[in-house]
Amino acid sequence: MPAALAIDIGTYSVKAIAGEPGDVVHVQRVAEVFNTTGLAVPTDDASASKLAQIVDALFSDYSLPRDSVHLSLPETVVSSKVISIPRLNDSELASAIGWQAEQHIPIPPEELSLEYQVLYRPKKNEQALMRVLLVGVRKQVVEQYISIFTQIGIEPVRVETQMLSVLRSLHFTPEDPTTLVVHLGASSMNLLMMHGGELQFVLSQLNGGQLLTKTLEQRVGLDVTQAEQYKRTYGLRPDQFEGKVSQALLPALQVLFAEVKKAIQYFVSQHPQATVERIVLSGGSALLPDLVQYVATETGTEVLIAAPFANASGEIPEKINQPGMIVCMGLLSQMK
Ligand SMILES: Nc1ncnc2c1ncn2[C@@H]1O[C@H](COP(=O)(O)OP(=O)(O)OP(=O)(O)O)[C@@H](O)[C@H]1O
Ligand SMILES: [Mg+2]
Repeated sequence: MPAALAIDIGTYSVKAIAGEPGDVVHVQRVAEVFNTTGLAVPTDDASASKLAQIVDALFSDYSLPRDSVHLSLPETVVSSKVISIPRLNDSELASAIGWQAEQHIPIPPEELSLEYQVLYRPKKNEQALMRVLLVGVRKQVVEQYISIFTQIGIEPVRVETQMLSVLRSLHFTPEDPTTLVVHLGASSMNLLMMHGGELQFVLSQLNGGQLLTKTLEQRVGLDVTQAEQYKRTYGLRPDQFEGKVSQALLPALQVLFAEVKKAIQYFVSQHPQATVERIVLSGGSALLPDLVQYVATETGTEVLIAAPFANASGEIPEKINQPGMIVCMGLLSQMK
């Protein structure tokens, strides 16, 4: 397959991977740069052109290819809903979907850009309901996002939402245990529940690793650079730095993981026979020291860190935050 370029604009860093897409992604180049705007989606023309400059510099500095560019929209600007409806065939669904979106997606129809995907279609005589994933986003947001690229002469070939990229990177099968993916970035946390190889729901909220850094600044009295460094070095290790960093981080983590516990409770209330057997941590903050142990204790569940390069070949730099690259790797993974 010819090389493609996947790019993920995060509020902390802009990440890109050039490589040959496929079941086994062949990585050619991995690039990352700080996002000095702190914005994942431009809010006006000025921030759009600042983001365009950052992206342009990234392409030039790393000699990244400008054709076949794949983008992922941040989950925070997207509305993803799994709906259950009586069985419809494709054309019936196509005519009913707009009305369904109006019931479930809080964006007026004239402003809505909608995509949908059938997750489960029962057989003709089966009683079960059909399940469909709706993904809605405001047209204006998509246009602003794409304008970052058109300004620098790039016509993106694909735009999808981040959690769909994450999902693809994890290669779920129906035999996999019920899994909650906790994607912890800098200013957002996205949760994705998988059961029987099928997406159950996606939740998104505005809090992430940045909250941990801020907490350290305030509670330990550090500047932002020191706080970032202490967070990465000591994290939740109780035996390091007299446990001061870990103690300071715990209340913020409790805020974040209260949402995770709520998501688990919600799932169990919908599926009383099932349990969440596994949590997969992804996003840059997954590498917080001792986070795996903390989450395992809090939830009583097996916890793993996503390894998006496990099934890849090529030039994989040693010093990159691998779970932070999951969105780019998902964009390059073959669609099922
Ligand atoms: N080793 C580490 N330990 C703890 N936190 C880390 C580590 N490495 C990176 N981080 C944190 O991960 C976050 C960056 O992760 P990521 O690249 O997934 O965010 P982003 O995509 O830019 O943000 P968002 O998606 O929320 O807009 C930052 O808050 C950073 O402090
Ligand atoms: Mg991100």
